[in-house]
Amino acid sequence: MNICIMGFGSVGQGVARVFQMKKEQIKEDHGLDLNLIAAVDRSGAAVNLEGLDLNLLLETKKSTGKLSEYPENGAEGISGVEILEEVDYDCLIEVTPTNIEDGEPARSHILKAMQDGKHVVTSNKGPLALNFRELADSAQKNNVQFKYEASVGGAMPIINFAHETLSGCRIESIYGILNGTTNYILSRMAKEGSSYEQTLNEAKELGIAETDPTQDVEGEDAACKVVILANSILKIDATYQDVEVRGISQITPESISLAKKEGYLIKLIGEVSEDALEVSPRLVKEGSPFAVDGTLNVATLKTDLADDVTVVGKGAGSLETASAIMSDIISIWKTN
Ligand SMILES: NC(=O)c1ccc[n+]([C@@H]2O[C@H](COP(=O)([O-])OP(=O)(O)OC[C@H]3O[C@@H](n4cnc5c(N)ncnc54)[C@H](OP(=O)(O)O)[C@@H]3O)[C@@H](O)[C@H]2O)c1
Repeated sequence: MNICIMGFGSVGQGVARVFQMKKEQIKEDHGLDLNLIAAVDRSGAAVNLEGLDLNLLLETKKSTGKLSEYPENGAEGISGVEILEEVDYDCLIEVTPTNIEDGEPARSHILKAMQDGKHVVTSNKGPLALNFRELADSAQKNNVQFKYEASVGGAMPIINFAHETLSGCRIESIYGILNGTTNYILSRMAKEGSSYEQTLNEAKELGIAETDPTQDVEGEDAACKVVILANSILKIDATYQDVEVRGISQITPESISLAKKEGYLIKLIGEVSEDALEVSPRLVKEGSPFAVDGTLNVATLKTDLADDVTVVGKGAGSLETASAIMSDIISIWKTN
């Protein structure tokens, strides 16, 4: 399978490293021969239709920061859409940054690939939260597969799990912690009794929170995931504007301590149901499945037959997120 990776940051490089680590095993186990032929970042692209040298690719990005510096086959200044026009690939992996203003450039990359009859795998929440219906319709019209397991909860299995393992059940609601950064901050505040500002700064120093943490702390990132789960699992035709969102920036150490005295923790919870699309701080019982610490994500799917099913896993990370992308690629290969 010839693959093009759009975006070569934490997730894109994670995918390349997984290809390096698992290429032979995947060939042996699934008969799938992974061949990365193009990788694109803001500087341009590295292209080799015979297959890029993954060591050289990762080393070039590490030492120069630019894929356009890839020896012999670097293309400076070429855009993502131009690359999709020029190379003959089977599957696009779209892992550029999430943009919740207009979903770009990912929306254009995904639509272009689909219109050209290519499968798409993405971890990018922006276009899914804003244009889910448009993208799903385009995939159907162009008879290609569109997979996005990594967009919700990184390595926490939820979308394919609901579609495949729980396929005999009706999912009535989903309730969960869908953002690792806010869970880290709230867990530390509960343990240390520290203020929101102090804990946020600590999270920034550790690289857990972004320099601009707005998307995480104001609940916007979790709201994107609520939209994706609503559309893909509950078949609710929702978009980002339909979600009621409240973040954690107003939570005080006093409110956390008061909750603790009564046996509760405060967590940022995303709810997906016919009645509510919401992200807000809520009380959860200590000792319940939602009492997870650190950057973990957790979600309970309420079903008609299996009752409650809870999944938990790492919501972010280079290899962790790449693992979900890998499972989407293998699934496309097996069902094609
Ligand atoms: N990191 C995680 O653990 C995680 C988990 C789940 C989902 N996600 C989602 O996965 C996506 C990628 O995340 P990330 O952490 O890998 O982001 P990142 O480290 O910021 O990397 C983004 C990459 O996209 C490239 N890029 C930016 N604009 C581009 C354009 N117009 N055309 C081509 N490439 C472009 C950047 O180029 P330069 O290298 O030249 O700057 C960079 O290589 C995001 O949508 C994120 O929300 C991430």
